[in-house]
Amino acid sequence: MIVVMGASGQIGRALIERLDRWDAPRRAFVRQHQQGAQLGGDYVLGDFDDPDSIRRALAPGARLLLNGSLGPNFVDQQRRIIDLAAEVGIAQVVKVSVRDAAPGGLLGQGMHGEVETHLKRSGLPWTILQPVGFMQNLPADVVSADGEGRFHGSYGAGRVGYVDARDVAAVAAVVLTRPVGEDATLVVTGAEAPTHAEIAEVMSATLGRPVRYVDLTPSEMAERLRRAGMPAGLADDLAALMSLVGDGRWAGTTSVVRDVTGRPPRTLAEFVAEHADAFR
Ligand SMILES: NC(=O)c1ccc[n+]([C@@H]2O[C@H](COP(=O)([O-])OP(=O)(O)OC[C@H]3O[C@@H](n4cnc5c(N)ncnc54)[C@H](OP(=O)(O)O)[C@@H]3O)[C@@H](O)[C@H]2O)c1
Repeated sequence: MIVVMGASGQIGRALIERLDRWDAPRRAFVRQHQQGAQLGGDYVLGDFDDPDSIRRALAPGARLLLNGSLGPNFVDQQRRIIDLAAEVGIAQVVKVSVRDAAPGGLLGQGMHGEVETHLKRSGLPWTILQPVGFMQNLPADVVSADGEGRFHGSYGAGRVGYVDARDVAAVAAVVLTRPVGEDATLVVTGAEAPTHAEIAEVMSATLGRPVRYVDLTPSEMAERLRRAGMPAGLADDLAALMSLVGDGRWAGTTSVVRDVTGRPPRTLAEFVAEHADAFR
């Protein structure tokens, strides 16, 4: 049995679809009946802030996909799930984290870093998946840009190995269904690491209309995010993270998707073509 936390999210849905195709027994943990009904099959209704509901979802010897959304309670929620998993006797935890997760890091990196530390100390067998940015975030950036096909960032010429969230799910599906192996951290990237100007070129060519990347200083970017309604601290951290990435720290790619799943990761051009409507 594989228990999928965050089953209604983009990784969770893709994982469930794959497990169902393989007839692998799984249980979805969802907040609403409607989400469980949409997924079909076994589901448990609950909330990460409700320990009893988490206990109802877990079973001795089951394997667990630990995934959720960042927020003020994120670290406490994930630590609690890990503690309950240890109490119940879960066979393996596969945690969705982020590249360069480390306690004290910016935004998700710091939060995921704290959870990773907790998981490694739990005594449970673990695999940590560290994706870079998801391609799925790109349409939102362009749609929210002005009508002239521009999107903004502070990445400079920094390259990012964006990955399709469905490829992260594909890696998780294999890790959760093959025999439990050594504890491992897998950095999950796409096959290419474009600059944001190159991403704009791919979009322009694929969509048949000009899209331009506009590079801003971190303070200009933070101001822009604040004006769009993002809380000030978050806007500052996100802009700072973009400019850190600008130094090329996320430029490297890995062969994890191909090695684990036997198939190459989706390319950016494939992703943009598939989601052309979302970009318009
Ligand atoms: N986005 C990126 O570029 C990126 C890059 C690297 C790593 N990551 C990491 O990947 C993870 C997943 O991100 P995502 O964008 O794929 O998330 P997502 O699609 O929004 O999925 C999050 C899931 O968590 C569930 N959830 C949230 N709070 C919950 C609660 N209190 N109780 C029960 N379920 C709850 C959501 O349920 P509902 O549907 O009910 O809200 C949803 O199913 C995050 O930890 C993020 O830091 C993201």
